[in-house]
Amino acid sequence: MKLSDCYNVGDFRKLAKQKLPKPIFHYIDGGADDEVTLKRNTSSFDKCDLIPSVLTDVSHVDISTTVLGQKINFPLFLSPTAMHQMYHSDGEKATSRAAEKFGTFFSLSTMATSSIEQVSEFASGPKMFQLYIHKDQGLTDNLIDRCKQSGFKAMCLTVDTIVAGNRERDHRTGFTTPPSLTLESLFSFAMHPEWSLKYLFGPKFKLANIAHMTNKGTSIEMSIMDYINQQFDTSMNWKHAEYAIKRWGGPFALKGIMSVEDAKRAIDIGASAIMISNHGGRQLDGSRSPFDQLETIVDAVGDKIEVILDGGIQRGTHVLKALALGAKACSMGKAYLYALSAGGQPGVERLLSKLKDEIERGMTLMGCRSVQELTKDKITFDK
Ligand code: LAC
Repeated sequence: MKLSDCYNVGDFRKLAKQKLPKPIFHYIDGGADDEVTLKRNTSSFDKCDLIPSVLTDVSHVDISTTVLGQKINFPLFLSPTAMHQMYHSDGEKATSRAAEKFGTFFSLSTMATSSIEQVSEFASGPKMFQLYIHKDQGLTDNLIDRCKQSGFKAMCLTVDTIVAGNRERDHRTGFTTPPSLTLESLFSFAMHPEWSLKYLFGPKFKLANIAHMTNKGTSIEMSIMDYINQQFDTSMNWKHAEYAIKRWGGPFALKGIMSVEDAKRAIDIGASAIMISNHGGRQLDGSRSPFDQLETIVDAVGDKIEVILDGGIQRGTHVLKALALGAKACSMGKAYLYALSAGGQPGVERLLSKLKDEIERGMTLMGCRSVQELTKDKITFDK
């Protein structure tokens, strides 16, 4: 299988599986416990149907939108995900440049393998930074201030990862950060010499934004669950979120909001957006899918705060359905990590091009000339 054989997210996933050592593939692909939430994140889009309008003159269709203060070329962007260099030696350089080329948001994780400063050199498109609140308060301040200096346009705080989800695939494969050669994984690394040689002789792996504050996860190998459980601040509460919003002073999203109550509180503390998300099914298994919860949240707060749907997106029509229910934009994680693993920057560009085309074609077939025309009457949950 080659990159040119990839037409949809499932194809990119297959190629990624072929290219990556087992522990790395399963770290991206997996979820928590029984992975019920992970599966539902995508399957819940099938519970409803689009209702097209016809004869509307769709000779000009504009799929751009404005979210978090930035106009983006189409209503789908790259959610923050950790450690891109593990999937491809070009790491965040590949993903940030692909996003820039397609005119959409790139999001940089606290746990990235490229620093805030490097990424601002790599790409000049709109960038969001994702915060985790570590126990060390100085670290949070340092990250926020560096993003300001480096021209990031928006920030989000992940609020659903107070402790690590139970990712059993990672236990079984012995996945660690940085990847380590264990007895369990040795065979798989040996079977993927291209990846292994690039990893061994390519740029040195480090958690580039935080390595100056902690050597855990950079020079000290550990499981991601241990990292989260040791390093993140379990006392994180609304005051921390409010503090980060104030210190940042620009467009700010809370990522991982699932209830109406919390969405209202996000407005009270001055957030400009919420990302409805369950962390790609990697945290609380059995939690509701973002799409299932979207309508309730939009009906309650959609006129006061931007609502972004994060998770499960595999098709342009998934984005259309979310927009019809009132989402401002959608974001994806796993999908573009498969594409990065499958083919670096050209892989991510190919995925973005396919999904952008699907959104544009879908809008055209729906008879919608702009995202504003994708309204609730264009979707039904009736049988
Ligand atoms: C994860 C964290 C690091 O989902 O975001 O693995």
